[in-house]
Amino acid sequence: MGMGMGMGSLKILMMLLLLIESTIFTESSHRSKQKKADGYGDINVFNVISFGAIGDGTTDDSKGFKQAWDVACNSSTASSPTVLVPQGRTFLLQPLTFNGKSCTTSNYITFQIDGKIIAPSKPSAWECKPNCDHWISFRKCDGLLIQGSGSINGQGSKWWRISCKNKKKACPSRKPTGFVIADSNNVEMRGIRFEDSPKMHISFERSTLVHANNLTIKAPSNSPNTDGIHIQHSTNVSIHNSIIQTGDDCVSIGNGAKYINITNIKCGPGHGISIGSLGINGKTEQVEYVHVRNVSFHGTTNGGGHGHARNITFKHITSHASTHPIVIDQYYCPHKHCKNQTSAVEISNVRYEDIKGTSGRRIAVQLSCSESTPCTNILMKDISLRNKDQNDDTSSICFNAHGFTNSRVEPNVPCLQKHDHL
Ligand SMILES: *[C@@H]1O[C@H](CO)[C@@H](O)[C@H](O)[C@H]1NC(C)=O
Ligand SMILES: *[C@@H]1O[C@H](CO)[C@@H](O)[C@H](O)[C@H]1NC(C)=O
Ligand SMILES: *[C@@H]1O[C@H](CO)[C@@H](O)[C@H](O)[C@H]1NC(C)=O
Ligand SMILES: *[C@@H]1O[C@H](CO)[C@@H](O)[C@H](O)[C@H]1NC(C)=O
Ligand SMILES: *[C@@H]1O[C@H](CO)[C@@H](O)[C@H](O)[C@H]1NC(C)=O
Ligand SMILES: *[C@@H]1O[C@H](CO)[C@@H](O)[C@H](O)[C@H]1NC(C)=O
Ligand SMILES: *[C@@H]1O[C@H](CO)[C@@H](O)[C@H](O)[C@H]1NC(C)=O
Repeated sequence: MGMGMGMGSLKILMMLLLLIESTIFTESSHRSKQKKADGYGDINVFNVISFGAIGDGTTDDSKGFKQAWDVACNSSTASSPTVLVPQGRTFLLQPLTFNGKSCTTSNYITFQIDGKIIAPSKPSAWECKPNCDHWISFRKCDGLLIQGSGSINGQGSKWWRISCKNKKKACPSRKPTGFVIADSNNVEMRGIRFEDSPKMHISFERSTLVHANNLTIKAPSNSPNTDGIHIQHSTNVSIHNSIIQTGDDCVSIGNGAKYINITNIKCGPGHGISIGSLGINGKTEQVEYVHVRNVSFHGTTNGGGHGHARNITFKHITSHASTHPIVIDQYYCPHKHCKNQTSAVEISNVRYEDIKGTSGRRIAVQLSCSESTPCTNILMKDISLRNKDQNDDTSSICFNAHGFTNSRVEPNVPCLQKHDHL
């Protein structure tokens, strides 16, 4: 997790490095009002080149992009306006916000990215001092389709070398999130490739009905805090059919996330799927109705606040020698000097089903819940986690967790009751 973790001591940590055989990328789109990528000569297509963008990889093209957006978003034609980033060129952008607030078009806007978009190559070249919170962001949009065969590269390698750890206060040059969708509704993202963000690649914030499909997100496995997709204060978000290989969580689910579906993600290298940082700073927060299927995961929940994490399902997961295939840990401490305090964040109704493969360590299942807020209704069905070392077996750690397992759970989890109809 790349987030500032507080003094809290609650964690659900579930790690699985997976090999997912799934190659079926055939889901039909969620939205009917869609436009094909053709029609470049369309009167309603606003090519950034026509607005002064050069695309030579060195000139700052931010103005051309901004102007194309402003015109598209006030287009009065009947069909949906398209901002086109053409193929075969590389556009350099400084931090930039596309705001939908004052748009007058009654249609959704398509952002067709077929070319390359890159960030300034070193932190000192970013025009956002002292703090750079984000690179590209879309705000207050209602009806937005971002698609194409292009790529968005945050050129983060020089940011990664700036260490913000071991500093008590916020790092003076806060690292930017690559791509933000905030305060928006009805957003669909398809086909785009994201690379080398300075920090997390994509963040969905305070938004509803967001669908991401067929994305590729890549950064080196040793790049710090480069989560693939982060979700917070957002509802009805789905992420399907994507490849995510980064230095941190493939998907991290934070405060206020509800109705989240994650399926068919090839995750790894990377830490998996995390549920984390709940209720930090004493706020009441919740995460509910999260479904993770055919995906690798690594989940963390921590925080010293109030709230709950519940109605969470992990299903059809394959682990390949992951160090902690299943962990819920309310005593988790990301720093050296946490107090052993119990948290008021409740964890309940968490279902693990059809989880198979190998564990890199002997302890394959760890449920460490606190005495004051035990974990309730933890269900485990059809779990088979063997030691990657074939000569050794696996075991579990289990306290203050309540719930049920069926008889096909290996290793045995003694604090859960046996029940054959789950
Ligand atoms: C769109 O048009 C409205 C009304 O004329 C104007 O207030 C607004 O600034 C325009 N938006 C953009 C992004 O140009
Ligand atoms: C996924 O995106 C890539 C790159 O844009 C594209 O070539 C491919 O056709 C897309 N696949 C599907 C099933 O849409
Ligand atoms: C998530 O999946 C469930 C069951 O497959 C479905 O009922 C629900 O509508 C989906 N929600 C979203 C946000 O995609
Ligand atoms: C979000 O998904 C839930 C569950 O599928 C559904 O009941 C609800 O109506 C959806 N909300 C919106 C705004 O579509
Ligand atoms: C998920 O995996 C399961 C078992 O591996 C398979 O039966 C199912 O079809 C997969 N679902 C999707 C949507 O690919
Ligand atoms: C969600 O979790 C709560 C508390 O654990 C439980 O009472 C409720 O029945 C669950 N809802 C569903 C739809 O599973
Ligand atoms: C925290 O306190 C609990 C209950 O007193 C104890 O069982 C546990 O070992 C302690 N954990 C740590 C990390 O000190």
